[in-house]
Amino acid sequence: MNLSNNTVLLTGGATGIGLALAQRLRQAGSEVIICGRRADKLREAQQLVPGLHTYECNVADAADRARLASQVVADFPALNVLLNNAGIQNRFQLADLPADLAAWEAQRQEIAINLEAPIHLAALLVPHLRQQANAAIINVTSGLAFAPMAFAPVYCATKAALHSFTLSLRQQLLPVGIQVLEIVPPAVNTDLGGTGLHTWGVPVDDFADSIMARLAAGEEEVGYGTSEAIRLASRQEIDARFKQMNAPR
Ligand SMILES: NC(=O)c1ccc[n+]([C@@H]2O[C@H](COP(=O)([O-])OP(=O)(O)OC[C@H]3O[C@@H](n4cnc5c(N)ncnc54)[C@H](OP(=O)(O)O)[C@@H]3O)[C@@H](O)[C@H]2O)c1
Repeated sequence: MNLSNNTVLLTGGATGIGLALAQRLRQAGSEVIICGRRADKLREAQQLVPGLHTYECNVADAADRARLASQVVADFPALNVLLNNAGIQNRFQLADLPADLAAWEAQRQEIAINLEAPIHLAALLVPHLRQQANAAIINVTSGLAFAPMAFAPVYCATKAALHSFTLSLRQQLLPVGIQVLEIVPPAVNTDLGGTGLHTWGVPVDDFADSIMARLAAGEEEVGYGTSEAIRLASRQEIDARFKQMNAPR
């Protein structure tokens, strides 16, 4: 993928991995449009990365997604890349959850943000993207798509589903000239799931530098460290890793 001269809609780009990718895409000479729910975080990102464009949007909401897609196409007719990065991670034991609608709503939100949003945004934007040169859709999944951590069961399921969807989408969009790429992060030191939960992860800048270099070199699915190993692992290796990751501590 050529990293310069693109116009990229990057969901959830105000913090963490999204912000690191936004910085690098800007440095490579692309227009970058980010969105998120927190106006203060969008402003901070704009101060950090000159020239970044921002929209407040909740990608859990279908009407908001449709508004975002049509507004960005109207404001940036050269839009040629959708980067589905926004995500949340909830940790819970299903057996401990109250059997009420509020508990279900938290799980439903996680499915809506991590899975519904990338599918819906792709569907909304394919008619526009297919008319652009060098069009691409990039989905951010996780090493946990391949071997889940049981403490985040819905999160891991959404990422496994997004990985599967990405494979089908790549196949479907081949004839219309839209490249479909996948970024598979390992644990990265960001605030995903709450402050302090991922401090043991790899530094976000090292991760982002490696991912960008490999996308620029033409790879379609890229991991880093443990996620590179797990995305390429055999079923036997995945089962062993699952056991090890989920062993009682
Ligand atoms: N960090 C890791 O260890 C790791 C590992 C594997 C995969 N990933 C994936 O990498 C992606 C980025 O995560 P991160 O680690 O960079 O965490 P992060 O810093 O928490 O970033 C997530 C971003 O998504 C945005 N977002 C969440 N819900 C949203 C919604 N409903 N509408 C719009 N934006 C929303 C957040 O902004 P607002 O809250 O302001 O909306 C935030 O900027 C996620 O898809 C995550 O699953 C991360």
